[in-house]
Amino acid sequence: MSFDLILFGGTGDLVWRKLLPALFQAFRHGSLPEGGRIVGVARDDLSDAQYRALIKSRFDDVELAKRPSDEEFSRFSDLLFYLRMDLSSPADYPRLAAKLQEHSADTVVMYLATAPGLFTTFCEQIAVAGLNGPQMRVVLEKPLGQDLASNRAINESVRRVFSERQIFRIDHYLGKPSVQNLFALRFGNALFEPIWRRENIANIQITIAEELGVEKRGTFYDSTGALRDMVQNHALQLLCAIAMEPPINAHADAIRDEKLKVLRSLKAWTPETLRQHVVRGQYGSGTIDGAPVAAYRQEAGVGQGSHTETFVALRTEIASWRWAGVPFYIRTGKRLSGRCAYIEVNFRPAPHAIFNTPNGAANRLVIHLQPKDGLELHLLAQGQQNRRDALASPASSLAGQTLAPVQLDLDFDKRFGTERVGAYERLLLDVIDGRLNLFVRSDEQEEAWRWVEPIMNSWKADAEGPRPYAAGTWGPSASSAMIARDGYCWTEEC
Ligand code: BG6
Repeated sequence: MSFDLILFGGTGDLVWRKLLPALFQAFRHGSLPEGGRIVGVARDDLSDAQYRALIKSRFDDVELAKRPSDEEFSRFSDLLFYLRMDLSSPADYPRLAAKLQEHSADTVVMYLATAPGLFTTFCEQIAVAGLNGPQMRVVLEKPLGQDLASNRAINESVRRVFSERQIFRIDHYLGKPSVQNLFALRFGNALFEPIWRRENIANIQITIAEELGVEKRGTFYDSTGALRDMVQNHALQLLCAIAMEPPINAHADAIRDEKLKVLRSLKAWTPETLRQHVVRGQYGSGTIDGAPVAAYRQEAGVGQGSHTETFVALRTEIASWRWAGVPFYIRTGKRLSGRCAYIEVNFRPAPHAIFNTPNGAANRLVIHLQPKDGLELHLLAQGQQNRRDALASPASSLAGQTLAPVQLDLDFDKRFGTERVGAYERLLLDVIDGRLNLFVRSDEQEEAWRWVEPIMNSWKADAEGPRPYAAGTWGPSASSAMIARDGYCWTEEC
């Protein structure tokens, strides 16, 4: 099957950092269909040869094991082409049409790694140029819009030109092997289903922590913030994956229908919960890995008095028979104490204690998403280590025994090897093959916007701005205070 993959925003950060390295991995492992072209599109005046040279130099930033050798790059570069084009200029679309006519491809994927402000013009002009035939697919990056209204407007203009099965709304968290394992854990094993409910689960915590700051994306980030950048999409998709009902099959719409139900059941915000259950923060200067780092407001492209949040912690509930009353906590931020993403399912303690257990100890399932990819099941066991201590103890019989925490540890990287298909690689191959399972439907997106919008509005009305936190910490203390009010704590504080 031959394909054309057109990367709009072809000289942008996403293309350099994620898309081309992912495409190279697919190429190296022979998973990219034969007879394909990858065409970078941007406004710069570049020849194919100059674009290839630029790509080659950008691979220097990629980790060594994933960098092409000269010989590999020379074969990979046969696939690479460049088109100079301004997406906002209708006069440039015939050149795109001419570029596509050079190659008869079975599938044409148009990947919009550009500002969403261009999507509407793009769709209109694609239709005018007659480039929306059935072999076309369009990939839209998140965040799609700034709020519900702009998201709807984009979705409407895209749907006017493409049918829903041609539209691939990407959320790269869904392509992570660890997230797919989460689906496997829940829906491929019967073990967890009976206990996956309010009777057994005390609370669920989702943490996506980054050490990085805003890097070179200050301008984009300052008008976006952590709520739109991470919560509206990645964090809510994880929440759906952990809370959804088993789908009737593994097809795209069956999965999306169940995720949509979770989003619809999220508890509506009230002035009281907005005040008590949402914390926004912004990093100040601090230390990461022993090196001093600048405050957010000193980053290039960021306004001096910016109120943009780089940290969000919130508490919500899902109004359903399975989950009523169980708090779900989400926290995400930049310049935190470490880079890690995990979901922690905290079970209720044993209903009647016959042993001594450490204060508040109970079972816990931790689903590690990154950098580790694996599962930890925390249990309680008889902790005495050696025979002499065991016999010397007055509690050598069961009564009076003190239990200690132990854990079962499954490391998927060790079990399956680290050469696993990365998120963008998986998703790009899925688009080329037309598989929609790991992409987001417009109604899911709209529901997620509807739910975050009251938070955005409450912040607009709050002159105080985000709470400061020092880079290299776990965010503002209000985040710990929020969870402590329920009698719980974040992992690193317990
Ligand atoms: C992107 C956000 O969607 O996800 C970035 O725009 C963030 O701000 C990134 O850094 C995190 O992705 P990952 O895969 O590194 O956790």
